[in-house]
Amino acid sequence: MPAKTSKRIPARELLFGNLWEFDPAPETAAPHIDSRYQLFINGKFTAPKSKKYFDSISPRNEEKLAEIALASDADVHAAYSAAAAAFPSWSKLSGAERGKYLYRIARLLQDRAREFAVAETLDGGKPIKESRDFDVPMAAAHFFYHAGWADKLSYAAPGRTLAPLGVVGQIIPWNFPLLMLAWKLAPALACGNTVVLKPAESTSITCMKFASILIDAGLPPGVVNFVTGAGETGAAVVNHPLAKKIAFTGSTGVGKSIQRALAGTDKRLTLELGGKAANIVFDDAPLDQAVEGIVNGIFFNQGHVCCAGSRLLVQESIASAVMSKLKMRLRSLRVGDPLDKNTDIGAINSKRQLEKIRELVQSGVDEGAQCYQPDCTLPAKGFYFPPTLFSGVSLSQRIAREEIFGPVLSILTFRTPEEAVEKANNTPYGLSAGVWTDKGSRILQMSTELKAGVVWANTYNKFDPTSPFGGFKESGFGREGGKQGLLEYAELI
Ligand code: NAI
Ligand code: MG
Repeated sequence: MPAKTSKRIPARELLFGNLWEFDPAPETAAPHIDSRYQLFINGKFTAPKSKKYFDSISPRNEEKLAEIALASDADVHAAYSAAAAAFPSWSKLSGAERGKYLYRIARLLQDRAREFAVAETLDGGKPIKESRDFDVPMAAAHFFYHAGWADKLSYAAPGRTLAPLGVVGQIIPWNFPLLMLAWKLAPALACGNTVVLKPAESTSITCMKFASILIDAGLPPGVVNFVTGAGETGAAVVNHPLAKKIAFTGSTGVGKSIQRALAGTDKRLTLELGGKAANIVFDDAPLDQAVEGIVNGIFFNQGHVCCAGSRLLVQESIASAVMSKLKMRLRSLRVGDPLDKNTDIGAINSKRQLEKIRELVQSGVDEGAQCYQPDCTLPAKGFYFPPTLFSGVSLSQRIAREEIFGPVLSILTFRTPEEAVEKANNTPYGLSAGVWTDKGSRILQMSTELKAGVVWANTYNKFDPTSPFGGFKESGFGREGGKQGLLEYAELI
């Protein structure tokens, strides 16, 4: 990032600011991306009956990476038929045998971790340090964790027997493509279900690469099927009569339409939808640590995170101190090529998402909030947006209410813990929250009163396969991860 040195620079910034130039440090592992991906049905790569393909581009530079098959209703039907045919023998396999497949899948993914990280970053735009250190290892961890459950299902609900549901349809979003695939596939397979999964249209590549891992692991044909395409393909997955359960992660709007489509059927449903999380900082919090948590909370994965800490609630007495620390920290964030190992904020996933972020940021300016963006030069090609702070935000403004899903933080203030809870809960969402304070009793009180599925204390964005994740209110229902997530894929008899 070129330095702008015309202003007087505080001594601290001279030492730690953005004045030091970094040499480019691109990750060089080959992503092995094919020029064209077919559907993955019944263990084979299959051309779509529609004969249609669409492009997956890299938001990093807008270059076309691959052509992806467009699955029609007939293709989705073929995938469900394969999954239904595979169900009897897969579900009758002993848990220990199913566990072996899951362990094998986890290890094969670890073996190819660098390759998958580069492919994920190219296709989706997230910084390589995140796909390398978070997405891919966490995806492998979910398979390891559920491999461990496969032969211990009787311990998940003592006195009851866990029976698989049958064929499950799963639809995943573009913000954590491989990780969401792992969150969905691993518990479904551990319980003995078979699967039809649809990745998001802008990020299908790691899913299709993952099919080759399933082949190498020797997974029986039809146990997992991948159909690629956009909303229409997703609707076909939802509406197929063979589906016993639908698991969806994505926007609240689509989640509601799925809920309507399934009303009156006996299909089970879990929804993991949007969020507008409050990250609450009290005046006794360790401020530097909190600033790191705030930055991670909103700028991780360009803010394309359903549990992003997108509303900062800061106690009034420390608001200006936090603000100036945040501004200083923002000036040292490196925005740009996601393939560079030093990049903190990579590319926005798609042009459509970039336009949505721009529109919401403009609404914040129009509605009177103060906007701060550090000086930074964005790459000429590709989809990029600078880290953005809005101060003087009131709860009625769109930037305080709507999910922006971008690197944009709205800052509000509060005086008392009661006011913090009131403001934090004043949202249709309830996925996550953060609390920063030195006082343990306050953490306990806040986490009881906050209507959020996950509450982090003195940290943010911490994930573990053993820990259930999911929402309240319009953030959805059902849990993923942990024993609770496992039980969503089984019937208790
Ligand atoms: P989306 O909800 O349209 O996409 C998520 C998945 O649903 C994709 O695989 C998509 O193909 C599929 N889909 C779309 N329409 C469908 C339908 N009618 N039936 C079944 N499946 C369907 O999300 P979109 O439009 O890409 O993003 C819009 C906003 O949604 C974002 O700005 C963000 O606020 C929110 N979002 C939240 C996510 C989360 O993790 N909670 C993930 C992605 C988006
Ligand atoms: Mg793409």
